[in-house]
Amino acid sequence: MREITLRHWRGSDAECLYHFAKNPKIGPIAGWPPHQSVEESLTIIKTVFSRQECYAVVKGEIPIGCVELLIHPNGNHWWGEGSAELGYWIAEEYQLRGYATEACGILIERAFNDLGIKRIFATFKQENVASKRVLEKLGFRYYDELNNVDYLNRPFREIAMILEK
Ligand SMILES: CC(C)(COP(=O)(O)OP(=O)(O)OC[C@H]1O[C@@H](n2cnc3c(N)ncnc32)[C@H](O)[C@@H]1OP(=O)(O)O)[C@@H](O)C(=O)NCCC(=O)NCCS
Repeated sequence: MREITLRHWRGSDAECLYHFAKNPKIGPIAGWPPHQSVEESLTIIKTVFSRQECYAVVKGEIPIGCVELLIHPNGNHWWGEGSAELGYWIAEEYQLRGYATEACGILIERAFNDLGIKRIFATFKQENVASKRVLEKLGFRYYDELNNVDYLNRPFREIAMILEK
């Protein structure tokens, strides 16, 4: 039986989201700044997290993380027709229990079976060994190394991985 489920984000998740997303160990390594207030978390729920394929990862009743299929023009890079980019994070308190792998697995199944997506890409900073391991467990393979800039406009190298249907 699955330990987690996916559902769309709700305004009532804002306090919980703020609690997890203010942690500086979560956002910056994934490319976004730590949340500064419950109000900011609510705004993010109403904007970024309201995209069609963005889901809360729910354990019991608690939204403990986020998983998203970024489809052009969202996403960090243009990956080509029929492609999408996978993004994910899990609150520190709930890490190392297989939840990121499980949540991404659910979304990958949906991408290939229901959304007509043929290739999924994901990127991670070189030092992000946990993210790399999640992708390996899901069957992704090395694709390329890319230049990017973070939310403070600082350049960094990232590894891109690919999973094909
Ligand atoms: C990356 C992240 C989503 C993983 O979430 P998670 O729920 O802990 O992931 P899982 O439990 O499914 O798998 C984690 C794997 O990484 C491994 N891992 C974690 N930290 C590690 C480390 N420092 N060194 C080596 N392996 C590590 C775990 O052992 C596990 O592999 P295993 O099952 O073979 O033992 C989570 O750490 C996170 O949210 N980090 C901050 C945001 C982020 O990096 N998002 C991805 C952006 S690219």
